[in-house]
Amino acid sequence: MTRASVVGADMTTFGVHERTLTELFATAALGAYDDAGVGPDDIDALYFGNAMGGQTENDTHLAPAVAAQIGLAGIPCQRFEDACATSSNAFKNAVEAVEAGVHDTVLVGGVERCTPETGLGTGEMTRIFASASDRYYEQPTGLTFPGVFALLTKRHMHEYGTTEEQLAHVAVKNHANGTRNPNAHFGKEITVEDVLDSPVVADPFRLMDCCPFSDGASAVIVTSDENADSFDNPVDVGGVGHATDIVPLSAKPVVQATQAARDAASQAYEQAETSADEMDFAEVHDCFTGAEVMASEAIGFFEDGEGGPAAAEGRTAIDGDRPINPSGGLKAKGHPIGATGTGQIVELTEHLRNNAGERQIDGAERAVAHNLGGDAATTVVTVMEARE
Ligand code: COA
Repeated sequence: MTRASVVGADMTTFGVHERTLTELFATAALGAYDDAGVGPDDIDALYFGNAMGGQTENDTHLAPAVAAQIGLAGIPCQRFEDACATSSNAFKNAVEAVEAGVHDTVLVGGVERCTPETGLGTGEMTRIFASASDRYYEQPTGLTFPGVFALLTKRHMHEYGTTEEQLAHVAVKNHANGTRNPNAHFGKEITVEDVLDSPVVADPFRLMDCCPFSDGASAVIVTSDENADSFDNPVDVGGVGHATDIVPLSAKPVVQATQAARDAASQAYEQAETSADEMDFAEVHDCFTGAEVMASEAIGFFEDGEGGPAAAEGRTAIDGDRPINPSGGLKAKGHPIGATGTGQIVELTEHLRNNAGERQIDGAERAVAHNLGGDAATTVVTVMEARE
């Protein structure tokens, strides 16, 4: 069977940018062309992710507009929207299209602008993000995403005794990792005390438990594993799982965030004929510190309830036995939502090529990315493997 490989990968810094959505995406896309040593003539389709451009900048039919700016006018292109899982879903579809023989080579990626450079502040951006929650039962109550993940995390604390201090260790570790990532939004170390002394946003989350609003773009080039043989540094896609969960939270039998992640992870491991034990590290969706703890259990790195203690014991650090988010994660690398999914694929690619600089996971051969959208309602989990 044809499998898919990544042969080019690049991203802008995640942070604050004055550039437009198109300019940002073009920067990442041209970087991916360069990385692969290809040009627009080698690309058969563009799978493009953007979640909020319609609401933030009145810019919706972006795929052909962006394509035309990067030499791809005329080819099939489409936009994906899946809240924070936007570009990982674009990636999944690109992998499937290559594996099915529909396209030989696909440029896939995403872009978002979420900072005040859009002209919109924290309040307005929070309202726009909340449009990815339930329209009828959640939005009218004023529930926003810090609140959604606070509720999910409170349930985890209730079930397993997870503490605010354990959550703070997640933020400290991810900020430390971010200082090693030149593309990260935040490049500054913080302490547990800094986290616990920062203002409350949504109990139990404080300012330092939250990811920031970021601008940025990421792009990768996907082709068949056979085509990939002629490239310098391919990384193989072992499997991509995709599952969804009930919205609103109140309709779930138990308020928890991880069923879709568990389902998507088992699909991805099964496709790759591997297991969590074989993974050398993970990039997970730590939009809030509690989300990383829950994700680390859902992808099988830890038993339920062990994610908090594992973070506090340093097991998820770059030099720990189960490294998580060497990039700094959403917490410190940043979260331009439409760019986050393929941003994780860029990070996996760098490590599996042994090219991740100061944050390299030594000897990394297999890794997993976990990216969720909305009220943990969509989750995409990807397993990638270094070439022998
Ligand atoms: N982590 C660490 N520091 C942060 C931060 C974060 N998430 N967000 C802002 N800061 C810093 C800023 O750099 C700034 O520092 P400075 O004073 O040294 O320049 C300071 O905190 C205040 O920044 P400001 O932009 O005024 O913060 P804010 O109060 O408007 O917003 C949050 C802070 C946490 C409320 C906002 O970032 C947020 O809502 N994040 C979550 C986004 C989200 O929900 N994403 C979707 C997830 S599913």
